Amino acid sequence: MSLLQAARAVRDNAYAPYSRFKVGAALRTPSGAVFTGCNVENVAYPEGTCAEAGAIAAMIAAGETRIAEILVIADSPAPVPPCGGCRQKIAEFAAADVTVTLCTTDGQSHAVTVADLLPGSFSAAHMAKTNAG
Ligand code: THU
Repeated sequence: MSLLQAARAVRDNAYAPYSRFKVGAALRTPSGAVFTGCNVENVAYPEGTCAEAGAIAAMIAAGETRIAEILVIADSPAPVPPCGGCRQKIAEFAAADVTVTLCTTDGQSHAVTVADLLPGSFSAAHMAKTNAG
């Protein structure tokens, strides 16, 4: 199944009664495995989670840690970009040149890289002067 098909399918299961904005995400790892996620909202709004976070959680739960490509889809007027928090989450597991494909349900798509989405990102190298680095 393509990432587009996988993201479209999982988007149908999004739980978005508050925003009514369903999002689907699908990622492929270097092994070829595909993991998907959808947004899961909550009546306590900040507790909701994004589609990308769900796909990443599924990848980690399966024992994989690297994203080779990722795609996000929503019913937007223009290809939907990951939110700021999700850009940082994707950058944790993807190289700067990894392709992020932004899609709409009506067939638009726009390919960018992780570096395009999060230039100057915070990384472990910035903690080099501490024990954590
Ligand atoms: N949303 C995502 O799932 N991913 C993004 O990157 C953008 C926003 C969700 C969160 C919320 O459930 C809804 O879209 C409206 O913000």
